[in-house]
Amino acid sequence: ASTGLVLGIESSCDETAAAVVRYGRETLSNIIASQIATHALFGGVVPELASREHLRNIVPVVRAALAAAGVGFRDLDAIAVTHGPGLAGALLVGITYAKSLAYALGKPLIAVNHLEGHIHAVLLEHASQQQSPTSPILALVVSGGHTHLYLADCGDEASGGVWQYRNVGRTVDDAAGEAFDKVAKLLGLPYPGGPWIDVLAPFGDPKAVPFAFAQIKTKHRAQRAGDLAASPKMLFSFSGIKTAVLRYIEAHDLKASIEARRLALAAFATPKVDDARALCDSQTLNLIASFQYAVVGDLLRKTLRAAETLGIQSLIVTGGVAANRELRSRFAAEASTRSLPIAFPSLALSTDNAAMIAAAAWPRFLAKDFALNSLNAEPSLPL
Ligand code: KG4
Ligand code: ZN
Repeated sequence: ASTGLVLGIESSCDETAAAVVRYGRETLSNIIASQIATHALFGGVVPELASREHLRNIVPVVRAALAAAGVGFRDLDAIAVTHGPGLAGALLVGITYAKSLAYALGKPLIAVNHLEGHIHAVLLEHASQQQSPTSPILALVVSGGHTHLYLADCGDEASGGVWQYRNVGRTVDDAAGEAFDKVAKLLGLPYPGGPWIDVLAPFGDPKAVPFAFAQIKTKHRAQRAGDLAASPKMLFSFSGIKTAVLRYIEAHDLKASIEARRLALAAFATPKVDDARALCDSQTLNLIASFQYAVVGDLLRKTLRAAETLGIQSLIVTGGVAANRELRSRFAAEASTRSLPIAFPSLALSTDNAAMIAAAAWPRFLAKDFALNSLNAEPSLPL
């Protein structure tokens, strides 16, 4: 008999995660082994180290997920695993483990796209969001590796409830989260820098430094068949603002104070917000606030323009950067002005986790969309 229980496994980047979710909606457990401490020493994710950490963590993390949910392997309906996009070696650890488990238990294996996982995270936990959003949906996925806009349809009986997606926008260079992390690094803040910029921005003046976003040139226009991103309005670019921050640092002789901050913060095992704030002068706090204000503003303007152009019924904003407080409040305010329903995952489910993978797997379980045992890692799998 079906229990509705799916074990989700996620290992695409720097978190080894496992979760048990019932009927794609109810999170029974959500275990995440973060590798931040390992990669922080290098200021970014080191793929080789990520694979090794996943190998070390995968068995205890899955055991913990089952124990926390109070279920055994035999109770599961299926095993779901991220098969891309992500780091090849990292993905392979989760995939190999999931395949072996599914084979040994005689249970179906379900392959999940990491980006679809981020989108399905909004269906978890929040009672108010447990209804599927109304189609057509515009989904903005903003994370460390991705800045994508999708036109999504949440399906019906005929499609087995499996969502359909069309890519309608993306970054032509850096992802938004990558820009947060790179700018934070330029300013001597710890890795990953996104959350640090979030907590420090309220102490600065967001209008102090005017950052401009150039219109993306037509030569960057999407060429892929079936890709609606033909309008330059739906393309993002975040490498320019990083360079602008660097120019500002050089022009205002901030290098020495940045190095002093970096060394002082490195001395803390886990620096607190007040520690970081005390080490930032007002010019730096203004720079941080202005950077965040500009990036959020650009994401907001282009997303709203796409929403208007496409005549969408609801908005989903997800991925690590969707944890950003200014982003949440400005998106929520603009959506409310337009009477556009908007959904965010709960904070803990914005960043990488396995509950979102199990959630995205459920419609595929119902549709019997099972993966073969030949499933492989797809580092640049599109959605
Ligand atoms: O979704 P995620 O955990 O991993 C990817 O799939 O990339 O996203 C991680 C990214 C990092 O760049 C991190 O700095 C950023 O999300 N991030 C934030 C915040 N929390 C995480 N960026 C801005 N504000 C935050 N509060
Ligand atoms: Zn992610």
